[in-house]
Amino acid sequence: MIDGHTQLVGLIGWPVEHTLSPTMHNAAFDALGLNYRYLPLPVEPGRVEAAMRGLPALGFRGANVTVPHKQAVMPHLEEITDSAQAIGAVNTIVVQDGRLVGHNTDGHGFLATLRKPGFKPAGKRALVLGAGGAARAVVYALAQANCTVAIHNRTVQRAAKLAHDMQDMDLCAPVTWTPINTQITDLNLDQFDLLVNTTPVGMWPHTDNAPWPKNLSFPSHWIVFDLVYNPPETRLLRHARELGARTIGGLGMLVRQGARAFEMWTGEKAPVEIMRSTCEQTLKDKI
Ligand code: ATR
Repeated sequence: MIDGHTQLVGLIGWPVEHTLSPTMHNAAFDALGLNYRYLPLPVEPGRVEAAMRGLPALGFRGANVTVPHKQAVMPHLEEITDSAQAIGAVNTIVVQDGRLVGHNTDGHGFLATLRKPGFKPAGKRALVLGAGGAARAVVYALAQANCTVAIHNRTVQRAAKLAHDMQDMDLCAPVTWTPINTQITDLNLDQFDLLVNTTPVGMWPHTDNAPWPKNLSFPSHWIVFDLVYNPPETRLLRHARELGARTIGGLGMLVRQGARAFEMWTGEKAPVEIMRSTCEQTLKDKI
């Protein structure tokens, strides 16, 4: 029930109609009996500053931030954590005594999901496909966890820029990128332990696409992690599973980054399994 004590959080993005986050967070609030509501907050590009000023003015406890505003919100926050600064994007805002504090929970969500099946990233080697915003969070989290990273991206300059940014931080395991004209088929795949797809290739409705050559094998000791969560098993993951690799879909990361934000706003332990099953059911209902 919404009443005079209801605490508000929401998702700032454009558009926000297709997001799972309101359903996921509201199910979590209900499960713990918390008087909170999570709202979709569509914010047109150009109105980000006004939206930021509105959060404390309207008494919001915080917000998530999604595409295309993860960078645009940053100049309007009073404080940004080191990891969000290093990633260069904010996906969670907490309102503390009227001040806006920006966090990034994507890296945490990624690592927590990767570690769940017992994988230990320290000392391992990862091949990351893509060099956009999602890749920045993944590469930072892996390098921080002492996992060596090679970035392969359609636009080589972007991969090089991401690797340089990480090298400049001087806090990580080595981060490199594959040189221009290098195809995935040119790489010595046995040198890697982990493949992470951060590109949107294979996402619904283009489920026949994959960011991996059709006839190329996966070493069977690999873990293959696809950040795409719709469909739950992408073509990349199906291919990897059929060749004996262990696979992880993107839903776990969505849930874990959300759980971390939930805990920051409420101070309560997030009901992760309820959040996950709510997302799974919502995705099933959509298909
Ligand atoms: P996000 O914030 O979700 O990571 P993004 O910043 O737009 O989104 O980055 C998308 C990434 O997927 C980029 O690395 C992009 O490659 P480019 O840097 O060359 O644009 C990659 N990507 C998107 N569509 C792709 C496609 N069809 N094939 C290969 N890579 C693709």
